Amino acid sequence: NDISLIGVPTDIGAGARGASMGPEALRVAGLATVLEGQGLSVVDRGNLNGPANPWQPPAEGYRHLPEVVAWNESLHDAVHAELALGRLPIVLGGDHCLGLGSISAVARHCRETGKKLRVLWLDAHADFNTAALTPSGNIHGMPVALLCGMGPPELTGIGGTTPAIDAGAVRQIGIRSVDPGEKRLVHQAGLEVFDMRYIDEMGMRHTMEQALKGVDEQTHLHVSFDVDFLDPEIAPGVGTTVLGGPTYREAQLCMEMIADTGRLASLDVMELNPALDVRNRTAELAVDLIESLFGKSTLMRKK
Ligand code: ARG
Ligand code: MN
Ligand code: MN
Ligand code: MN
Repeated sequence: NDISLIGVPTDIGAGARGASMGPEALRVAGLATVLEGQGLSVVDRGNLNGPANPWQPPAEGYRHLPEVVAWNESLHDAVHAELALGRLPIVLGGDHCLGLGSISAVARHCRETGKKLRVLWLDAHADFNTAALTPSGNIHGMPVALLCGMGPPELTGIGGTTPAIDAGAVRQIGIRSVDPGEKRLVHQAGLEVFDMRYIDEMGMRHTMEQALKGVDEQTHLHVSFDVDFLDPEIAPGVGTTVLGGPTYREAQLCMEMIADTGRLASLDVMELNPALDVRNRTAELAVDLIESLFGKSTLMRKK
């Protein structure tokens, strides 16, 4: 499919300012050119607009709830419109609260077209907090729970169906930081999580085989790539680093195995924070990995 880039310049759900500069850093790192080099056709739709970050403390468990609603409603519409045109949207975040607008649109498209949804959530964090459980009030720690119907109707109802997705559609990979209450909810919801211990013991190859099991011709595969998935040694440009993430090689294999399915149909690139980066190297790394995600391989690909 032809690709549409959608920039969403906000850090409204994050605990640090700066992810609002993520879209431009990914452009500067050459994302469109690299994809075109893979023989793909790319259109950059530019940036969405939305409210500024008022930098307020949480109110009833949520920071910036009305602003988070506004950004996610507009992203939902933008992503849904691209999918309806038969295009492959790449969301350039922006913080990970935007996973709500993006994935609710993907889920709606799947309902409309009878496709089966599979979400790969690449992240250091489960992002499965609720207002009652969150230690921070930052909504970027909540999008998976919101998608599964847990939260206020202004957020869980985006896209018209609550819950937007079933927890069974999600596979989380790379997880290594889950808050105490969040841990219980992950267990209770039956979320399928391949945490770093699983990857250490079983290897990335086996992990991805498991996470991609059941993906077939009827599957719409969505990847929500939180850049803090990567080890901070190679990816310092994020607001919430957690030690002990996938190495460069592990991350490459992860992307390559997703590419091999041929089912990738939408992508989020979230949490890149240029204010914390070193000479744009995290953006360049993200672009390098996305190149593999779209099929770059060293040799001719065997069929
Ligand atoms: N669990 C922490 C919180 O709820 C951190 C969440 C980090 N999420 C992210 N998308 N980087 O505040
Ligand atoms: Mn994260
Ligand atoms: Mn995240
Ligand atoms: Mn590559």
